[in-house]
Amino acid sequence: TRRVRTRDLLAAKERGERWPMLTSYDQYTASIFDAAGIPVLLVGDSAANNIFGYDTTVPVTAEELLPLVRAVVRSTRQALVVADLPFGSYEEGPTQALRSAVRFMKEGGCHAVKLEGGRRCAEQVAAITGAGIPVMAHVGFTPQREHTIGGYRVQGRGDAAEDVLADARAVAEAGAFAVVLEMVPGEVAKRITAELPIPTVGIGAGPDTDAQVLVWQDMAGLRTGKAPRFVKRYADLSGVLTEATRRYADEVRGGDFPAAEHTF
Ligand code: KIV
Ligand code: NA
Repeated sequence: TRRVRTRDLLAAKERGERWPMLTSYDQYTASIFDAAGIPVLLVGDSAANNIFGYDTTVPVTAEELLPLVRAVVRSTRQALVVADLPFGSYEEGPTQALRSAVRFMKEGGCHAVKLEGGRRCAEQVAAITGAGIPVMAHVGFTPQREHTIGGYRVQGRGDAAEDVLADARAVAEAGAFAVVLEMVPGEVAKRITAELPIPTVGIGAGPDTDAQVLVWQDMAGLRTGKAPRFVKRYADLSGVLTEATRRYADEVRGGDFPAAEHTF
């Protein structure tokens, strides 16, 4: 077995084969997802909310994300590992974007980077891909711009569909190997997927994209409470962990743990 390459993902699109992608931020989830055959793992800036406890993805830094990238790369054999460039590390222009991407590849060891934005980031995508670093773009709803967009809102409804299409086209033409479509109507995602030569990765974009991505804590039910409509929980990790923690605590308090077999 060898690492998945960007060309494998392009070939999958040509064959009409869908693929799954998940976020990962640590050793155990990375090795489990890798062994389960998830071909692409994303060390997302969603670590801001899901690891570091921030309210948005805006504050998370390269210094916080890089150790997570290294952990995920070290813990996988097959998955192509994509690292998100955090807010503030590429907006100034192609020079800053390339510097940040080089840092994530050299210090993080990732195989590709991801950034948010369509037409307005086309120059950044061209600069990074021109240096030999694969880029996954991200259009539609882009969480780093939450304060400008005005919250988590579906993008590309009605006439705005043309804007999302133009953004997706721009990053594909600039050299991106794939593009995330977040919270766009299913019909719009279907149209973009049919038109673009590169794979589309949907999150809240309906069933007709080439790939799907979810934040793993959402997929596995570690995060509880109200989830966006596009989330499906495949397990109740929060419930499993709560129950295990209660039993452990009870057994310590009751003197049942450790028992003789745990004792030297
Ligand atoms: O940071 C993230 O988790 C993402 C995906 C949900 C696409 O950008
Ligand atoms: Na992200």
